[in-house]
Amino acid sequence: MSSTLITGGTIVNATGTCTADVLVDGERIAAVFAPGTSLGNHPPVVDRTIDATGKYVIPGGVDAHTHMEMPFGGTNASDTFETGTRAAAWGGTTTIVDFVVQKAGENPLVQYERWQEKAAGKCAIDYGFHQILSDVDDSSLSAMDELVREGVTSFKFFMAYKGVFLSDDGQILRGMQKARDNGALIMMHAENGSVIDVLVQQSVARGDTSPYHHGLTRPWQAEAEATHRAIMLADITGAPLYIVHVSAKQAVEQIAMARDNGRNVFAETCPQYLYLSLEEHLGAPGFEGAKWVCSTPLRSRAEHHQQHMWQGLRTNDLQVVSTDHCPFCMRGQKELGRDDFSKIPNGIGSVEHRMDLLYQGVVLGEISLPRWVEICSTTPARMFGMYGRKGVIQPGADADIVIYDPKGKTRISAETHHMNIDHSAWEGFEVDGHVDTVLSRGRVIVDENSFHGQAGHGEYLKRSLSQYLI
Ligand code: URP
Ligand code: ZN
Ligand code: ZN
Repeated sequence: MSSTLITGGTIVNATGTCTADVLVDGERIAAVFAPGTSLGNHPPVVDRTIDATGKYVIPGGVDAHTHMEMPFGGTNASDTFETGTRAAAWGGTTTIVDFVVQKAGENPLVQYERWQEKAAGKCAIDYGFHQILSDVDDSSLSAMDELVREGVTSFKFFMAYKGVFLSDDGQILRGMQKARDNGALIMMHAENGSVIDVLVQQSVARGDTSPYHHGLTRPWQAEAEATHRAIMLADITGAPLYIVHVSAKQAVEQIAMARDNGRNVFAETCPQYLYLSLEEHLGAPGFEGAKWVCSTPLRSRAEHHQQHMWQGLRTNDLQVVSTDHCPFCMRGQKELGRDDFSKIPNGIGSVEHRMDLLYQGVVLGEISLPRWVEICSTTPARMFGMYGRKGVIQPGADADIVIYDPKGKTRISAETHHMNIDHSAWEGFEVDGHVDTVLSRGRVIVDENSFHGQAGHGEYLKRSLSQYLI
């Protein structure tokens, strides 16, 4: 077991900042203390000292929404647990929560075991699982109890993708009743799938088949309506609700109203909904827009949705930023939909860039420094039952630590990124700030622009119930 002393940095927690040294002993943070103070009678004798003067020392990022190797859209997401968690580490994320997939006819417990096998021995950073449930029947409902005991304490339901993932309102209601009883958190893909399916069929029949029409056939009303319906279903049952990948300002309004009325409704947005748009990205010439086909879709900049996402993060109507990392290459994957946008696999790859992209929010004056840490690390850790070990720099926490240089620069490109994807949704973005050093459970896994981690270092996290609810 080695020890590390991080000296002279500015510690940034969700609660504020201070100048302090951090002593890491083995896998945990042993002490946080004023620089120059001796511990006991002696300065600590350590294996390694890292000078963090002029830099931020933050808890490692927690990305609570990723899809490594996800079978979707007739193919599989192009990052494996190995490549995706390595890329996450490069970008200062030290924990992911990925999704076990249960499609109609599949046994959720068997699927959970499959996902455990896929991830075992592959991950560079710690990982947990949510479970996607599409079939809701007596056996999948009782599987939810078993999964909670295994540390899968959150379940995602879909109001879209008929015939693949969609559950009807009655099924969702039953899932929520179960969550009310066993303490799990319900995550919701809130889009009105029936309406979208009709609009898509009509668009394709008219010959409007380009990626831009992906956005036009998933209008904000379909998101706002489904968000409202999910909130009402949760209210009938008393279950807590977490809306994933929010992109429409009208959906944020629904969430804000529910929260003002005292409901346990939470939500995340993603970097793509803060920076990218229907017009510039989905509307790029030719088939280029396929790079940005994801659901919910990118929204119109003319309608100011992006501004409202930042506002929601400031007002705490949105509490978390996750990536919804679900990468597909252009070659052989996105191009499945060259003649029909509805066949383009849905998803964007960002797991490597979330910390940098959100730090840009600090630079732009959209969020404060502690809020950056709160939405990227502390709240996802609390929301999904990992806080204390993850999401905070304090004695006893896992030594998942990022040393972040605010004077550094990060240029994003497919030429230099570490995700297994042949393009970047963020090509050419140049952001202030740079991930210098990353520790995962006390081990330095990224330093001086080199990767020192190892597949299999990452451990499965048996999560507790959401610490927002207990
Ligand atoms: O387009 C997306 N979001 N792909 C991943 C699956 C999901 O709905 O989260
Ligand atoms: Zn979704
Ligand atoms: Zn997703």
